[in-house]
Order: sequence, then C-alpha cells, then structure tokens
Amino acid sequence: MRIDILTILPDLLTGPFSDSIMKRAQEKGHLEVHIHNIRDYSTHRQKSVDDYQYGGGAGMVMSIQPISAVIEKLKAERAYDEIIFMTPDGEVLEQAICNELSLKGTIMILCGHYKGVDERIREHYITREISIGSYVLSGGELGAAVLVDSIVRLIPGVLNDETSALTDSFQDNLLSPPVYTRPPEFNGWKVPEVLLSGDFGKIEKWREDRALERTESRRPDLLE
Ligand code: ADE
Repeated sequence: MRIDILTILPDLLTGPFSDSIMKRAQEKGHLEVHIHNIRDYSTHRQKSVDDYQYGGGAGMVMSIQPISAVIEKLKAERAYDEIIFMTPDGEVLEQAICNELSLKGTIMILCGHYKGVDERIREHYITREISIGSYVLSGGELGAAVLVDSIVRLIPGVLNDETSALTDSFQDNLLSPPVYTRPPEFNGWKVPEVLLSGDFGKIEKWREDRALERTESRRPDLLE
C-alpha cells in the first residue's frame, strides 16, 4: 500500500512512522509513506498557505492553490483509490472503515488546519472525509497518524501470528477479554484458575463470556 500525506507540519508526522509496527511494515515492503509539505507548492512570494475568509469572520482558511498543486502532481503520477480529508465534521472512524481502507492500494490524506480548507478542494478532489472522534484537534496530522496506524496493522503480513489483528477488540463487534501473564500470583492477586488449567475448551468459553460481559457493560451499543 502507498500512502501520501499532505501537510503544512511534516515534522509532526515523522515520529509515528519511524517506530514499531509502522516502521516494520515499511521495512518489509508492505507500506510506503510519502509526506509532502504543502508549503513547498505555494506560488506565493512568502510561501503562504492560508488566507482570510471571504465574507469576513475569524480564522484563516487553507488556500486552494498549493493544495491543488500537490494533488494534481500526485494524481498525474498514479491513480488514487481514495483522497481523504481529515476533519472533525467527517464520518467518525470505526473498525469497519479501517478494514475497508486496508484493502486499498493507494491513499492520499490531506491534513486540515486553521478554520478549514477552501471548500472547492473538498468538492473537487476529496473522495472521503474522516474524523477520529467528536473533539477538535489543532490539525489533521495526529488524526492521519491514527488512521494510518489502524489501517496498516490490518494489511496481511504486517503483524505476525501472535499479534494477529483478527482477535482485536471490535473485529467481531466485541471488546477483547482480559489478559494475564506471569507470575500467577502477585501481591495476593491471582490469575483466574481456568487460564492455568490447560483445558482449551474451557479457556475459550471463559474468554467468550468475559468478552461479552465487558461489551455489555462498557459498549452495549456494539451489540445492537
Ligand atoms: N482535525 C481536527 N479535528 C479532527 C478530528 N477530530 N478528526 C480528524 N481530523 C481533525
């Protein structure tokens, strides 16, 4: 999968992609991430990327020219399956969307800032608008990192068997059951007996029951 991220703050995005699973996915050739600084495409003398909004009102708006220039350049090089705009008024990200996007080959992600982006970008280039939750971030970069992380771990081969995404919370509309590791007792706090029993039928049943119980108490909406 190839992901191109358009941003005015490229430094914000270097960290998330240079560690752990996102780093490994790139090293193993499952993922290519290209970060583009929108400012480099500005034809303005001072390389500005925003301007006052028509009609007045507080807050700057990201200008159409430099964003259009990056998108046109990239689109001339290859076709994109999705061009996503990270915005608090987009559809709220959930596992089903991550699953769907993990099957794509090429994704472009535009990170918004300030009061927003000139609406013509959204009308003419954007194919999908995604929010990572009902709160407002300073910009779309952290949202883009969350989105890419949630997609990349679903690409076959990125995770090994032990960390397989199939048993993640949400994959079957259930939260994950509790997990334990050694020692079997700490400060008098014991690991549930059944997990030490070696009876895999019983263990599986215990996990299913706990997953259901946890989902019912914490996220009953998932069971509807
Ligand atoms: N940009 C600002 N807030 C955001 C959010 N909640 N999700 C995605 N992008 C955003």
